[in-house]
Amino acid sequence: MLVAFEGIDGAGKSTVFNRIKEETSNTNLENQLVFTREPGGTRISEDIRRLIISPDYEKMDPKTETLLYAAARRQNLIEKIIPALDANKVVLADRFIDSSLVYQGIGRNIGIQVVAKINQFVLGNVMPDRVIYFDISPQEAMNRLKKKKQAADRFEKENIQFFEKLSLGYRNLINKNPANYVVIDAQKTPQKVYESVKKVLIPLIKEASK
Ligand code: TYD
Repeated sequence: MLVAFEGIDGAGKSTVFNRIKEETSNTNLENQLVFTREPGGTRISEDIRRLIISPDYEKMDPKTETLLYAAARRQNLIEKIIPALDANKVVLADRFIDSSLVYQGIGRNIGIQVVAKINQFVLGNVMPDRVIYFDISPQEAMNRLKKKKQAADRFEKENIQFFEKLSLGYRNLINKNPANYVVIDAQKTPQKVYESVKKVLIPLIKEASK
């Protein structure tokens, strides 16, 4: 089973994701779960990640960007995701195809159809079984990012209109295929958000191990 975590920057998904990863390490779940993030997850993909999100590359063309995300995803799929799925594990991915559909397809105006096609080429028939969507208003997401002192990546430097576009993009994906999504209210406290995600994951993990 492949479960993707999605949401706009600042929604808090990586915080929850990393907490789950930490809390399940050295437990009996450790052998059942595989954690990955995109762009990244394997050495090659992490190197591609460095290129893509570097604030030094303001001039990166949106099509170049789309292809680099796709390349990173392909390598993650082949090296990490498919072997884990074949071994009947639950793969938790911090971002997956929806990030490309929304950020490149809509945010960068490449068009959702084109990005979907490129990703079909990359993924074949592997698609997330469930997407956990961290729902937050673009304004609140921006406020959170501004509070973070660390250097923003290229996306985090974008303006509120960009975030609004992304948020609408995710909404459209969810409306098209609601059964695939679990929407989490990410405006709540980190603790509450974490608990809601856990509540969603536990039955999924049980289902997968049947
Ligand atoms: P992310 O790992 O969520 O950043 P962070 O760990 O700093 O929270 O993702 C990095 C950026 O890449 C993020 O702004 C979203 C963007 N992204 C895309 O534009 N397309 C994609 O396909 C993916 C996977 C990420």
